[in-house]
Amino acid sequence: MLQDVIKASLNTRISIQAGALDKLVWKNDTIVQSLFSNIERITQFMTTSTRGDVKDISFAPRGKDRIEWAAKEMPVLRLIRERFIKDQPLKGIRMSGCLHITTETANLAITLKAGGADLMLCASNPLSTQDDVASALVSEYGIPTFAIKGEDEQTYYRHINAVLDHKPNMTMDDGCDLVSTLHTTRTELIPAIIGGMEETTTGVIRLRSMETGGVLRFPVLAVNESDTKHLFDNRYGTGQSSIDAIIRSTNILLAGRTFVVFGYGWCGRGVASRAHGMGANVIVTEIDPTRALEAVMDGYRVMPGIEAAAIGDIFITVTGNVNVIDRTHLERMKNGALIANSGHFNDEINIPELEKLATKKRRIRDFVDEYTYADGRQVHLLAEGRLVNLSAAEGHPASVMDMSFANQALGSEYMLAHAKEMQPRVYTLPAELDKEIARLKLHAMGIRIDTLTPEQEKYLNSWESGT
Ligand SMILES: NC(=O)c1ccc[n+]([C@@H]2O[C@H](COP(=O)([O-])OP(=O)(O)OC[C@H]3O[C@@H](n4cnc5c(N)ncnc54)[C@H](O)[C@@H]3O)[C@@H](O)[C@H]2O)c1
Repeated sequence: MLQDVIKASLNTRISIQAGALDKLVWKNDTIVQSLFSNIERITQFMTTSTRGDVKDISFAPRGKDRIEWAAKEMPVLRLIRERFIKDQPLKGIRMSGCLHITTETANLAITLKAGGADLMLCASNPLSTQDDVASALVSEYGIPTFAIKGEDEQTYYRHINAVLDHKPNMTMDDGCDLVSTLHTTRTELIPAIIGGMEETTTGVIRLRSMETGGVLRFPVLAVNESDTKHLFDNRYGTGQSSIDAIIRSTNILLAGRTFVVFGYGWCGRGVASRAHGMGANVIVTEIDPTRALEAVMDGYRVMPGIEAAAIGDIFITVTGNVNVIDRTHLERMKNGALIANSGHFNDEINIPELEKLATKKRRIRDFVDEYTYADGRQVHLLAEGRLVNLSAAEGHPASVMDMSFANQALGSEYMLAHAKEMQPRVYTLPAELDKEIARLKLHAMGIRIDTLTPEQEKYLNSWESGT
């Protein structure tokens, strides 16, 4: 146990702080220095392990300001929070969440805590954490958070296990890493779990596969399937923030460039339309004939990925699939090509093959790696192939996450009330809740709509009148 603590502590940023202290105090005595350093690390790890593990707690004030800034754009969540404070629907429930640690997630966490939940958070991607937000969650809001931007895979899973040590009654996932860890290595915790929520397309795909394989052992609400989630978050959120990330990290002009979008699902549609709006010539690649047809009729060129590979300037994958940009695509790319991914995992681009193809690699800008091929061509990989919008920018704007996280908050309340009637399956939120979120959002935006007249209602429920 002690060994584990020492090992774990050595892998964290704490070692840097302890190292700096060593130099000051114990300059000439290496043995004492190393002892002191280890004691320092262990003590800090033990205190931080109850509060979380973040990069630098002094970032908290900036994180708090940014969380409050995002809150202004989250009126639906605010309404839910006000009700939760009164009703306490989550009182006494232990929740463990594995989500992108952003300002919007912080507002969700604050809402769940206000509703009585005893909550811990970790990152759902090694590169998506906003370190100032993680610090603020710990020190300003008392929500233990285990997340450091750029953490290695070992730390990533140590953090997942740390939030599982909380012995949750309810889980929240973005990509299913928490639930899959529960079902592989932490099965002893499953009997205490009432149910869970899943945020994204890839997570829902994994959960459905678990359900089909008879592996899933508790009900999960697929938040992604709500209209007020994927129609807005995946489309407008991923659309805007992915373009934002490409521009922030490269400062390139999109106008006049050939911009290739792999996958014309909810995210792909958003990315394509935003790139088109910035003056890029958009090409779409697909494997689904209906979606390909939709892209054609939306005005884009559609062709096989391998053909697009030779003519594109900028490439982005949003498929939820593996090796969509493979070695054969990489081999054909033009000098100067930019490659990014906004799908959930960093396996949409075959990075190991890119590493093999290149004779030289260097980080030329933040979030931009330049790979030089033997013939001198250079291609650039953004954000190590991880979801570019959350790694190289700030992820979705708060206004859109307002609806996604309203689904999470209401979903957790719904799950608690209905878990007894539910099987270990993947469920969607009831349509009335989905519509209610849309109604609240419109209300917050000051937009009014029509209602059916009694005559129209009757007409829509009848079959008698025709030609
Ligand atoms: N970056 C973010 O913030 C963010 C937000 C939401 C979702 N996501 C992730 O983005 C990915 C896509 O989500 P979505 O909601 O758009 O899914 P979707 O299922 O609506 O769309 C995916 C599309 O990719 C197509 N596709 C699959 N394999 C392909 C291939 N080899 N070549 C070309 N097209 C292919 C599919 O036919 C489908 O049309 C998922 O991994 C999801 O989890 C990321």
